[in-house]
Amino acid sequence: MKILILHGPNLNLLGTREPEFYGSMTLDDINTKLVELGKSFGAEVKCLQSNHEGALIDALQEARTWANGVVFNPGGFTHTSIALRDAIAAIGIPVIEVHLSNVYAREEFRHASMISAVCKGKIVGLGWKSYALGLRALLEE
Ligand code: DQA
Repeated sequence: MKILILHGPNLNLLGTREPEFYGSMTLDDINTKLVELGKSFGAEVKCLQSNHEGALIDALQEARTWANGVVFNPGGFTHTSIALRDAIAAIGIPVIEVHLSNVYAREEFRHASMISAVCKGKIVGLGWKSYALGLRALLEE
């Protein structure tokens, strides 16, 4: 099994960015944990972050050629991007939407997701464990 962990805009700032919502772990800390978890399942986990919508779309399209699934935190693009939704719908591999914070306990605009309907499932509010549970869901299939 090969899985892409895809992080959207501003998640490169984890560790210092609004720790009351996103915790104190850095993106590298989270990626290290996910690669280890993947290894314990005999799976290969690749991690990628971009602040650019087009780069995230490219990564999703490329994942179709090598990955069995994607764990995706689209950050703020979650709430706005029809293009990311279309990419997920197009690639035909399972995508799990994840969020570190509980978006439903925050501003109303964060309650809407353009991508949820085309994702296999969604996990929110559990910090880095949202990613870990999304990864486990794909690996235990
Ligand atoms: C986020 C929630 C989004 O609303 C926000 O724009 C982010 C991070 C999360 O992981 O909780 O950048 O996706």
